[in-house]
Amino acid sequence: MYKTALHAAATGLAFAAISASAQTADKLYQANCAVCHGARMEGAIGPTLGEHAWIHGAPTKANLIKIISKGVPEKNMPAWSPALSAAQIASLADYIAANANKKLAAPAAAAPAAKPAASDLLSGFKLPKGFRISVYADGAATARSMVVSDSGIVYVGSRKAGKVYALVPRADQQGADVVTVAEGLENPIGVTLLNGALYVGEISRVIRFDNIDQRYAQKPAYTVINTGLPNDKWHGEKVLRAGPDGKLYIPVGAPCNICDTDDTRSAKIYRMNPDGSQVEEVARGVRNTVGFDFHPSTKQLWFTDNGRDELGDNTPSCELNVVTKPKQHFGFPYCHGGVVPDPQFGKGRTCDEFEPPVAKLGPHVAPLGMTFYTGKQFPEAYRNNIFVAEHGSWNRSTKIGYTVHLITLYGNKLVSDTAFIDGFLRGDAVVGRPVDVATLADGSLLVSDDYGGRVYRVTYDGK
Ligand code: HEC
Repeated sequence: MYKTALHAAATGLAFAAISASAQTADKLYQANCAVCHGARMEGAIGPTLGEHAWIHGAPTKANLIKIISKGVPEKNMPAWSPALSAAQIASLADYIAANANKKLAAPAAAAPAAKPAASDLLSGFKLPKGFRISVYADGAATARSMVVSDSGIVYVGSRKAGKVYALVPRADQQGADVVTVAEGLENPIGVTLLNGALYVGEISRVIRFDNIDQRYAQKPAYTVINTGLPNDKWHGEKVLRAGPDGKLYIPVGAPCNICDTDDTRSAKIYRMNPDGSQVEEVARGVRNTVGFDFHPSTKQLWFTDNGRDELGDNTPSCELNVVTKPKQHFGFPYCHGGVVPDPQFGKGRTCDEFEPPVAKLGPHVAPLGMTFYTGKQFPEAYRNNIFVAEHGSWNRSTKIGYTVHLITLYGNKLVSDTAFIDGFLRGDAVVGRPVDVATLADGSLLVSDDYGGRVYRVTYDGK
């Protein structure tokens, strides 16, 4: 497995590095390292590169050059020589050494004073007429995907925080208290409910908490139900969702920016029985889907997919797709966004061989969670259309995404794709990054934000 990951990283990244040769150390860092060490070196899948107990000796230039060049393959830190030149590695070493003794906290962990006042925070959002936004829950660090139980408790996964939260509605119904259900998990971003049990997707396993609504407050024990899926760290975090057929759907991303995955178990969507058995492929050629849902009437699986990086600011587009029959191939790594052949892997192939997306969502917008709106609170026109959380670009010269979009459909065809919530990005300042969307029983819409560690709630009063 490590060999595959490393090989994949090396082929994919050699390509990335060429186009980055003329760029500054920060650009090199953002393009190659931020995905694992965080955009501000605050740490994500890999450790922070700010002040910490350095694993591989003092952060001197010589030591850094050594570790960056050779990597730690068995721990998922790729070797960067020869993908990056000696000069590039030296400039990265200088750049990291300069930050090596700084405290580089992720924004969610920042002092409360750094957060904007609640009124400024909320007044800076833009929504269509008649809609209001409020903070439903605060203090859920790195909040990721959400699922709402029949009793109105919202379970939320997280990334670096390693926790699963329960948002328990307060008596006034205006907001919820955050209770930690479990901690010390490995990037448990995915959550879903099936037969009263909460299923959680970690990088290397799927775990189950039985009768969760009765036990969430007692740090409940869990059962490991599956450890057999690829567990590469790159794009290895796993969302999951119970399907209308009573199975668990779970994707495995490509362990790279771009690499050949057809003959591997990566870049596919699977489903399995609720006990973890009978894993079968549902779709292939899917680079990295971090959100999906089933159409309320057709029951077809719809999913977002994040486009590859390093082809420039404006290409290729991220995708919204629908699975209409078994064994469909959605193009990765040969064709991106339905129309852009890959400069390396697309040779000798054509985009016509693959399923085109229903909607091209835009380059680098990073669509994550999506949901069909089935609530009764919003106007009729919203019913059975899709909300998509766009986390926002990390590698584009002008930021894009940082919004929740409304996608309207006619059958399986796109009608429109418009902003529903704007204002997570204010000028150049980020106040939040939308991750997932879910509907409460009263028809209000929740939006999780892993940057601010919050869950927002959108209501409609028509005024
Ligand atoms: C696929 C994920 C991944 C990518 C991409 C990645 N790293 Fe790492 N890196 C890691 C992991 C995981 C570790 C911890 C290894 C260990 O535990 O020994 C690490 C460790 C390090 C360390 C040593 C930290 C210490 O405490 O000693 C440095 C320095 C580093 N990485 C720099 C970089 C640079 C520079 C880049 C980009 C050119 C980069 N990394 C890209 C995953 C990654």
